[in-house]
Amino acid sequence: MTDRPLKPRTLAAQALGAIEPETKGVALPVHVSTTFIRDPDNQYRTGYSYGRPDNATVRQTEAVIAALEGAYEALMFGSGMAAATSVILALPPGSRVLAPQVCYWGFRDWLINEAPLFGYRVDHVDMSDTNAVRAAIKPDTKLVWIETPANPLWTVTDIAAVAGIAHAAGAALAIDSTAATPVFTRPLSLGADIVMHSATKYLNGHSDVIAGALATAREDALWTRIRQVRAHHGAIGAQARGHRARQSEPGRRRHRRRHQRPHAARRAAHVSHLLDAGPRHLHLLGVDAPRRRRARDVRIFRRPPRARRSPAGMIALGTA
Ligand SMILES: Cc1ncc(COP(=O)(O)O)c(C=O)c1O
Repeated sequence: MTDRPLKPRTLAAQALGAIEPETKGVALPVHVSTTFIRDPDNQYRTGYSYGRPDNATVRQTEAVIAALEGAYEALMFGSGMAAATSVILALPPGSRVLAPQVCYWGFRDWLINEAPLFGYRVDHVDMSDTNAVRAAIKPDTKLVWIETPANPLWTVTDIAAVAGIAHAAGAALAIDSTAATPVFTRPLSLGADIVMHSATKYLNGHSDVIAGALATAREDALWTRIRQVRAHHGAIGAQARGHRARQSEPGRRRHRRRHQRPHAARRAAHVSHLLDAGPRHLHLLGVDAPRRRRARDVRIFRRPPRARRSPAGMIALGTA
């Protein structure tokens, strides 16, 4: 036996080695119960009291996601949007948030048009420009939100640098890591406080589940509030909690394999190479023209603990 940490592919494939105690089945049952029997003294010692926040299948998937991210704990949500908005709604009313100019359009739209209705003040900045982030953060900024590589252009943010800026200003750093997945980037190890995934995308990888996830570096006041927001709003997902969690158990246990080089990443690299002389703005997940900028993005994206890996398998083309 060795103490070396398990590779993501082993972690996802083994799903923490959980077995069903009664039959010893290696695939766990899908739990659907909404209510639970109390102990004779009226307690719920199993840790399950009501199905809105408590579901054993969901918790199993959360444990796998936490292991993949090197997190203290993970929480699943009914969608990526539910996960992302729960982070903002967990902040005290009136909090100031620093957000990216470029990120998933639905969340950007929510930040611009709906977050202010709850009293949140949202500033926007080019997160790929570390100096601009430093200039934009304010003494009362409570949260910096980044997305890297950012949908739709796959622009790259230096997670470690922005974590340093956020923490120096007393703000937390949350990151939408949907496009990177824990296979390519583990943001908590680079200083982020919260990682978010639209599990609808790479984490599931089969286009048959809408789900979201958050993972935290530690239990703190913000995480406690996020857990409360999820429980109160039912943000775990009203329909088929257990089924959805089981389906999104990282890529049905093939998470790492889908990212291996002979697959998406190598093909994307090949397409990028073929088109290099073509469109001026070519982005291969983390690779951005012009060349100097591209080299910088690759350097940042390949930082340990994911060094030596090729960029992941998504490209964006522009025609300018
Ligand atoms: C980067 C990113 N974040 C968040 C979301 C929203 O996730 P969901 O559709 O699961 O709510 C998406 C969806 O496309 C996305 O691409």
